[in-house]
Amino acid sequence: MSGRVVSGKQMEEDAVAELSLRPKRLAEYIGQERVKDTLSIFIEAALARGEALDHMLLYGPPGLGKTTLASIIGAEMGVNVRMTSGPAIERPGDLVSILTNLKPGDVLFIDEIHRLSRIVEEVLYPAMEDFAVDIVLGKGPAARSMRLSLPRFTLVGATTRLALLTSPLRDRFGAVFRLEYYDDEAMQEIVTRSAGILGVPILDDGAAEIATRSRGTPRVANRLLKRARDYAEVRADGEIRREVANDAMELLDVDELGLDDVDRKIMLAIVEKFDGGPVGIDTLAAATSEESDTIMDVYEPYLIQLGFLRRTPRGRVITDRAYAHLGLEPPQAGDASQQPSLFEAN
Ligand SMILES: Nc1ncnc2c1ncn2[C@@H]1O[C@H](COP(=O)(O)OP(=O)(O)OP(=O)(O)O)[C@@H](O)[C@H]1O
Ligand SMILES: [Mg+2]
Repeated sequence: MSGRVVSGKQMEEDAVAELSLRPKRLAEYIGQERVKDTLSIFIEAALARGEALDHMLLYGPPGLGKTTLASIIGAEMGVNVRMTSGPAIERPGDLVSILTNLKPGDVLFIDEIHRLSRIVEEVLYPAMEDFAVDIVLGKGPAARSMRLSLPRFTLVGATTRLALLTSPLRDRFGAVFRLEYYDDEAMQEIVTRSAGILGVPILDDGAAEIATRSRGTPRVANRLLKRARDYAEVRADGEIRREVANDAMELLDVDELGLDDVDRKIMLAIVEKFDGGPVGIDTLAAATSEESDTIMDVYEPYLIQLGFLRRTPRGRVITDRAYAHLGLEPPQAGDASQQPSLFEAN
């Protein structure tokens, strides 16, 4: 096949592919066994009682399947899912109108729920607890408050940062689910499933190669699979085997652990500019020209999971394992740079 041009049509096809890759039912959702087991009990019990499901909070790094799980909850309960996000709800009135338009049992999904403003969040408290909203009619001394009742609905919240949720909000969820990075086996299954849906010929060793480089994250796996497909079509016979996947990943600068140039830039900055750390997140962000939120949400959790980075009260510290991976000599024990300094700012 000749060179790929990213046309409008192509982008449209990619968007359609993205939708079709999303598992629709719990049985199709690979991995996260603990979450699935618990959730299916709650769903079965709610269905048996003919009630709405309790409010659920999902948290974990981006791309692990929170949005997917919210749609699945709706499908399993046989109800509609209304999707929105914290930053999209600007005024309390926006939330009131969403809430008053829900049907009994509906799922309201609020992504990035930690980014709701405080005044919007306050509308949510009585809505979640009493299925009611208080609205103010009129202005000034003549203003009256009126309580509107809402149908019983299920709030599904998603966040990458549980710590940023206020405790009154957190306490109103009936269950909190933490999504974990997927293990290699689950990742390989996800790659194989996605390849099947996209009609991409792939061998087991090719799927395994993509799986181990996808940082335990299905969204990354789907992206790497598409790039490996492009590579296989242009540089090979279209089939993704180990060597083909390997070459494609090398071209993308994704190493055997799934680390890319930004991960390396972050680690090298800590090594070279801060003597291995500790360094505060904002200083690190400035030194790498990355957003501190992006470092905290996307890069750091995976580096911590690999044991390459540690979070200490005084900032981020690089580990000996990271030095080894980077092919560098860790500083000697007793090296001045590893001694705690009295004046180090976080
Ligand atoms: N358990 C799974 N099995 C198979 N594919 C999955 C699974 N979880 C997620 N995916 C795939 O990964 C993609 C990303 O998932 P999703 O959008 O649900 O992530 P997310 O956690 O909501 O991410 P973000 O925090 O960035 O919103 C989905 O389009 C889907 O194809
Ligand atoms: Mg999402």
